[in-house]
Amino acid sequence: MSKNIRLEVSKAAQFLAAGAVEALEPRVKAAQKALEDSTCAGNDFLGWMHLASSITPEHLADLKETAKVLRENCDTIVVAGIGGSYLGARAVIEALGNSFEWLANDGKNPIMLFAGNNIGEDYLYELTTYLKGRKFGVINISKSGTTTETALAFRLLRKQCEEQRGIEMARKVIVAVTDAKKGAARVTADKEGYKSFIIPDNVGGRFSVLTPVGLLPIACAGFDIEALVKGAADMEKLTAPEVPFAENPAEQYAAVRNALYANGKKTEILVNFQPKLHYMNEWWKQLYGESEGKDGKGIFPAAVDFTTDLHSMGQWIQEGERTIFETVVSVETPEHTVLFPHDDENLDGLNFLEGKRVDEVNKMAELGTQLAHVDGGVPNMRLVVERLDEYHLGQMIYFFERACGISGLLLEVNPFNQPGVEAYKKNMFALLGKPGYEKETEAIKARL
Ligand code: PA5
Repeated sequence: MSKNIRLEVSKAAQFLAAGAVEALEPRVKAAQKALEDSTCAGNDFLGWMHLASSITPEHLADLKETAKVLRENCDTIVVAGIGGSYLGARAVIEALGNSFEWLANDGKNPIMLFAGNNIGEDYLYELTTYLKGRKFGVINISKSGTTTETALAFRLLRKQCEEQRGIEMARKVIVAVTDAKKGAARVTADKEGYKSFIIPDNVGGRFSVLTPVGLLPIACAGFDIEALVKGAADMEKLTAPEVPFAENPAEQYAAVRNALYANGKKTEILVNFQPKLHYMNEWWKQLYGESEGKDGKGIFPAAVDFTTDLHSMGQWIQEGERTIFETVVSVETPEHTVLFPHDDENLDGLNFLEGKRVDEVNKMAELGTQLAHVDGGVPNMRLVVERLDEYHLGQMIYFFERACGISGLLLEVNPFNQPGVEAYKKNMFALLGKPGYEKETEAIKARL
């Protein structure tokens, strides 16, 4: 039987006054009630809360059937999307996939590529060059249907797909995930007759990984979306308001990080010891950054991959400004076994490790780092995950989402909006002279 993910907070709580975390219980429970009763700020974006437990078998079957069509007709699938329309899918696919898929692809699964998440001309050149001659399909993901980065990539990809594969096949292997009615992505999908999925109005981008935004690409990559959803649905129960505060991991995490913030710990570093979790870090950064960074407030969400970054950021974390705390995602058991080999010459002096699993060394690095950082004044939480599979990733996703909702309300911000994201877009359109932006163009040019 699978073990639930578990949060350890003692090495963070030791930096706080006795009772500081417990004192937050009434506010945490009030935040939970506001979320459940839909009375909190941003209450029109709470569709994520019971999404996992309400997904129907028919919906999952529709996603799997669409994934089957793409898998049967494509050797490569490009997922076009940015921010919340990108990071969740990539996080899960990279956590579950072979790190060397590029080189080791055995043809059983399509190669999954990502676009529409930057405006890099070289990136797009190299991508479209790579796709030449390949049997590729596209999943175009955009809730607004108007995001520049995604629209640009989709223009290029659609054209190339139609030219390379013919209009009829392109219509089969291009799928849209977008709003029910509005936006260019919806208009194009309806006009071309693409298969499409709807992003619910009441689910914001960064909370949308369990909608088709995440589930379709994950299913296309060959992973078990039912197990992912089951993990999230089980975590709904484990983080529900009726679960006592001391046993509720989402409530504990939200409370501890807010107590630390109130004590001057302004930056949280999410740490992993598995390179496959790099994009989970990225997903988490967006979730917390967009949800909490507003009104002049918010813990800055940073992330590192250890032990890699111990050789770059380790010095700062050990001895830099003491305004940080860490949350370590610790995977108990890797999927594969590699033993430390014997070497007759033993020039590196490492024969004492002979026969040990590589993960045993990794775990001692993890423990040694935790103790060193705590000694150096860095509060440390640990999220212990039995293994990297769909079920546990589903648990992690919902755990972080639920805690994020609670945490944002403790901080007294609206965790479900992102008004600040518009500022750069307005300037960019003004600088580019987009029709309708004439006044802004004039004003911004006067500043240059
Ligand atoms: O979380 C969010 O709302 C954002 O990151 C969006 O997901 C991102 O800006 C992409 O937007 P859209 O899906 O409308 O293209």
